[in-house]
Amino acid sequence: MTDKKKTTGQKTPGQKVPGQKVPGKNKPAGTAKATSGRGQRDLTIKVKTARGRKLSSTLWLQRQLNDPYVKRAKADGFRGRAAYKILELDDRFRFLVPGARVVDLGCAPGGWCQVAVTRVNALGEKQGKRVGRILGVDLQEVEPIAGCEIHQLDFLEDDADDKVKEWLGGRADVVMSDMAASASGHKQTDHLRIIALCEAAAYFAFDVLEEGGTFVAKVLAGGAEAELQKLLKLRFRKVLNVKPDASRADSSEKFVVATGFKRDLSDQAADQDGLTEE
Ligand SMILES: C[S@@+](CC[C@H](N)C(=O)[O-])C[C@H]1O[C@@H](n2cnc3c(N)ncnc32)[C@H](O)[C@@H]1O
Repeated sequence: MTDKKKTTGQKTPGQKVPGQKVPGKNKPAGTAKATSGRGQRDLTIKVKTARGRKLSSTLWLQRQLNDPYVKRAKADGFRGRAAYKILELDDRFRFLVPGARVVDLGCAPGGWCQVAVTRVNALGEKQGKRVGRILGVDLQEVEPIAGCEIHQLDFLEDDADDKVKEWLGGRADVVMSDMAASASGHKQTDHLRIIALCEAAAYFAFDVLEEGGTFVAKVLAGGAEAELQKLLKLRFRKVLNVKPDASRADSSEKFVVATGFKRDLSDQAADQDGLTEE
């Protein structure tokens, strides 16, 4: 197991954290209201093909330049348009509550963490409300985010769950994953890869979540997700599939939201006997 790098986003007065707006000057990241943005997707900028640039890159660039969520993310100080997906999911299911302890698997570049910091009151800015904790992990290095503890870690490593519980000082209320396996370009292969990643994230959540906890994860629709649903239904009281408005309509991406985690009675007994490391 390699705990390659830990970056803690401790806020120091006057410090400008990359990706976060300076309060007072701009709206702080995470205060944006989630709206669909649909209907604003008409293409306005055409990107010319350039020598040496592939057609797929030109189309990607054109889509980025015309995506209202990309524009909003820039204006709102979020590190990416993905922030609006978790905002929407949380507006609907309310799992990022003040005081919640959250694990964000595959957190780079940090948009979901930015949203979570505000919603769980990780910086203690909401007076009189409980203060939550955010722990983000990713294969890649992530620029610090105030209120968030970030580790460079492959969550698939053997003792990743124990490490996370140790860093968190106990179990989590929320495990969320926006992870994507590197794309092969072959639709069915990519689907199977992401389902495998999501299933691994689910087993990770079983080891880390508190009774009643929530698991949120990205999946790609494509046929092999039935097993995953079955698995989640065994351990959660409610399992729903959601396609947020911020998720591109032409992508097969959707999110599974599983609430009301049921810990095994054997896990609970082991914890009480001190047999399981917290
Ligand atoms: C789509 S990005 C996440 C975006 C993020 N939610 C945000 O709002 O900025 C997916 C991330 O998953 C990470 N990832 C993929 N497999 C991983 C693994 N086994 N362990 C940790 N991170 C992983 C990738 O490095 C990538 O940064």
